[in-house]
Amino acid sequence: MIGRLNHVAIAVSDLAAASALYRDTLGAHVTAPVALPEHGVSVVFIALPNSKIELMEPLGANSPIAAFLAKNPDGGMHHICYEVSDILDARARLKAGGARVLGDGTPKIGAHGKPVLFLHPKDFNGTLIELEQV
Ligand code: CO
Repeated sequence: MIGRLNHVAIAVSDLAAASALYRDTLGAHVTAPVALPEHGVSVVFIALPNSKIELMEPLGANSPIAAFLAKNPDGGMHHICYEVSDILDARARLKAGGARVLGDGTPKIGAHGKPVLFLHPKDFNGTLIELEQV
């Protein structure tokens, strides 16, 4: 059901500093920051030859990554995103298998303008999983 690895997301407390680190020290191309108020984060993407890295900084008072950064003040790996061809079919199969979909289970539009869902990390080896329909 899952396809390519779309991206690995890293939570950071300072998006400008993290972007500079990837651009200047690691020599990567970093996109301009984009605010995603519905997700409570601002993000940049780093294109790699075979995938992408998403750097996320909290946005707003109720950011879902605020608690993560309180526990991990240096930042850290937050989620991985797999591609699926049909997100509603994927949701039905996952729910039938007992997996928990976060929020109200309705796909939101993610950073690439495509529908995304998140799956409970306790159901997937302690890893928060994002599914993106491509
Ligand atoms: Co993501």
